[in-house]
Amino acid sequence: MKRVQYDRHGGPEIMYFGDHDLPPAGDGEVRVSVRAAAINPFDWKLRQGAMKLFSGRRFPKGMGTDFAGIVEAVGGGVANFRVGDEVFGTVDFKRSGAFAEAVMVKASHLAKKPPQLSFAEAASLPIAAMTAWVAIIDRAQARPGARIFINGCNGAVGAFAVQLAISRGAHVAGACGPASRDNVRAAGVHPIFGYSDSQTYTLQGTYDAVFDTLGTLDVGPSFAMLNPGGVFIDINPTPARMLRGMLSQRYKLAFATMGIKRLPEIAELAGNGTLRPAIGLEAPFTDALSVIADTEAGRRISGKAVLAF
Ligand SMILES: NC(=O)c1ccc[n+]([C@@H]2O[C@H](COP(=O)([O-])OP(=O)(O)OC[C@H]3O[C@@H](n4cnc5c(N)ncnc54)[C@H](OP(=O)(O)O)[C@@H]3O)[C@@H](O)[C@H]2O)c1
Repeated sequence: MKRVQYDRHGGPEIMYFGDHDLPPAGDGEVRVSVRAAAINPFDWKLRQGAMKLFSGRRFPKGMGTDFAGIVEAVGGGVANFRVGDEVFGTVDFKRSGAFAEAVMVKASHLAKKPPQLSFAEAASLPIAAMTAWVAIIDRAQARPGARIFINGCNGAVGAFAVQLAISRGAHVAGACGPASRDNVRAAGVHPIFGYSDSQTYTLQGTYDAVFDTLGTLDVGPSFAMLNPGGVFIDINPTPARMLRGMLSQRYKLAFATMGIKRLPEIAELAGNGTLRPAIGLEAPFTDALSVIADTEAGRRISGKAVLAF
């Protein structure tokens, strides 16, 4: 089968369509015929080598993480999925490769696709929604009346974070770029700030949680945005940000992988319309190399870029 792969860490020019054979499904594994795969910043960060300590140096490596498709085969001990089921999920990042005609995944990394969602919409959920879940439900503990500020509230993670927080009764303020304002207003964010307005973020009060989806807020000064007991949530840690943050009990990290068990709940929330994936571009798999490169370079329309098979 064909997949997008690379033979060393580097820029978009090293990606190519390669042939790859999947082994038979092992215990606890499911083989899925991919119908749609969504592009995440994580995919090109992995290819660039940002996580090579964890992802290892064995090449070629398949690219892509989030997908939706149809179960083709199940391994031993898999009771909750059958051949023919429509599913969505996320590939373990050590064995990434969802930009492919088929993937092999642990059953624990899959959920049934809500029938109300297209394959493209379901593929847009895993990393972004799991990260938003960990940040907003686990870290911020969103609850009625809580005040939450989301920096980058119209990105894939940011938009799901807004939807989750509002569904829990929280009040959400946030910052976004000018092109995102209409979306963000419609989602119920108020007030809406620009990225250059940081002096005014607390004019209408401080917050129980500040969720920085972009990694662009200064960690130390941002603690002044918090109520007593409030938390600052980071999903783009660098050594400097972590060093600054670790000096405070208020700095919390959130990673998508911490939310893997939430996939069934995420499916339920997407099925009932609480989580609403936004697709910006659906392109054929044959265009994968240029679509990934364009997305990585920021040349795209608002919403997820999805490869369709
Ligand atoms: N720790 C983790 O496990 C984890 C998990 C997921 C993501 N992340 C990281 O979190 C960050 C955000 O991820 P994401 O998936 O939310 O990224 P994203 O969807 O690309 O959104 C990021 C921001 O880019 C801007 N943007 C959105 N669409 C755009 C477009 N068409 N053209 C130009 N800019 C656009 C938006 O800002 P404005 O429109 O407001 O300018 C948005 O807030 C990334 O750095 C990612 O690596 C970390």
